[in-house]
Amino acid sequence: MTEPFDTVDLIRTKRDGGTFADAEVDWLIEAYTRGAIAEEQMSALAMAIFFRGLSAPELSRWTAAMIGTGERLDFSSLSRPTADKHSTGGVGDKITLPLAPLVAACGVAVPQLSGRGLGHTGGTLDKLEAIPGWRAKLSNEEMLRQLEDVGAVICAAGSGLAPADAKLYALRDVTGTVESIPLIASSIMSKKIAEGTGALVLDVKVGSGAFMKQPDDARTLARTMVELGTAAGVRTVALVTDMATPLGLTAGNGLEVAESVEVLAGGGPADVIELTVALAREMLTAAGRDDHDPAEVLASGRAMDAWRSMIIAQGGDPDADLPVAKETEVITAPSDGVLTTLDAYAVGVAAWRLGAGRARKEDPVQAAAGVQLHAKPGDPVRAGQPLITLHTDTPERFDRAKEALADAFGIGAEAAERPVIIDRIG
Ligand code: URA
Repeated sequence: MTEPFDTVDLIRTKRDGGTFADAEVDWLIEAYTRGAIAEEQMSALAMAIFFRGLSAPELSRWTAAMIGTGERLDFSSLSRPTADKHSTGGVGDKITLPLAPLVAACGVAVPQLSGRGLGHTGGTLDKLEAIPGWRAKLSNEEMLRQLEDVGAVICAAGSGLAPADAKLYALRDVTGTVESIPLIASSIMSKKIAEGTGALVLDVKVGSGAFMKQPDDARTLARTMVELGTAAGVRTVALVTDMATPLGLTAGNGLEVAESVEVLAGGGPADVIELTVALAREMLTAAGRDDHDPAEVLASGRAMDAWRSMIIAQGGDPDADLPVAKETEVITAPSDGVLTTLDAYAVGVAAWRLGAGRARKEDPVQAAAGVQLHAKPGDPVRAGQPLITLHTDTPERFDRAKEALADAFGIGAEAAERPVIIDRIG
């Protein structure tokens, strides 16, 4: 087949700060997905984009071209509106688990196509697989049926949505080109637009445990994604939220399920409740159904009913005991004072090293491994009191996890106030 463009010319164009014509963008994405552009050439192009960026028209065409490589789902046959949430990923971020059934209980269907964890951030599917019997893989028909009957589905995103992204993301992961705002924005939004949701709420994390370390970068990423979603006809808003410290008191698959169930039962940590309710409010408003107060619905137990139905519909037993780690080890506070910091990235790495996460896509994860926190920044602590409990089935992992946590926390006279929700863009 004769190709209409020369890849090396296009790499040089971007390397030198030029912009692509629509036809060039379309060809780059289509030819790469087809295997006609070599991995080393796409690596060079991804690095050129990392340094030079993409203009707004280039980015919107790039995203559309990625969507065009796969299928688009259609939820228009459902009797209720749809809204989805996407988080850019953080430590202890189990919000999807209480949020999806809560929004469903308020009358909006939630099609949550999720992924597995890689590196220090956990994956929603890995968490739910800690529940005995629960099944991540559903056909499109099963997903639609569950959305109509239960109102919420959390399942594996099939390979049919934006397959260009799966290939490009794997390449970016090993070439140091993940942390590029246009590449992250097009990667996330191509999948979300192809998924066919009517409304989308983005949770853009900022801090040590997130891709974006600086609030202004997170705001730029949020704005870029909101613009892409809105232009594609999806009602899109974003919250920029704190990821300097983990969300809640747990990081690890089964531990996070247990904490989510506590929230659905009317308890749980304040930051998890605050963010769940705030995101639910945004989803309901974006879907045009703000006649319910999610805080009231959470307190009423109706979100718990929706959770149970959602787990049962996918073969899970909501009453089964969650797996318990074979071994635990406790880290205690070295002095009296107030916990001033607790670093999200360090906690994420520790949970990963204990077996909660994977280094390669094909690695298994331990359902019971992870980190349980006994205090959050701002809490008073006494010397010798338990601060962190490490859980694992493989105790040889404790030393490396403790190394990750060596400088993870500070104890002082007082802690600065840190809001969970930093900004709203939309
Ligand atoms: N999540 C994605 O799906 N893509 C990115 O590029 C980063 C996070």
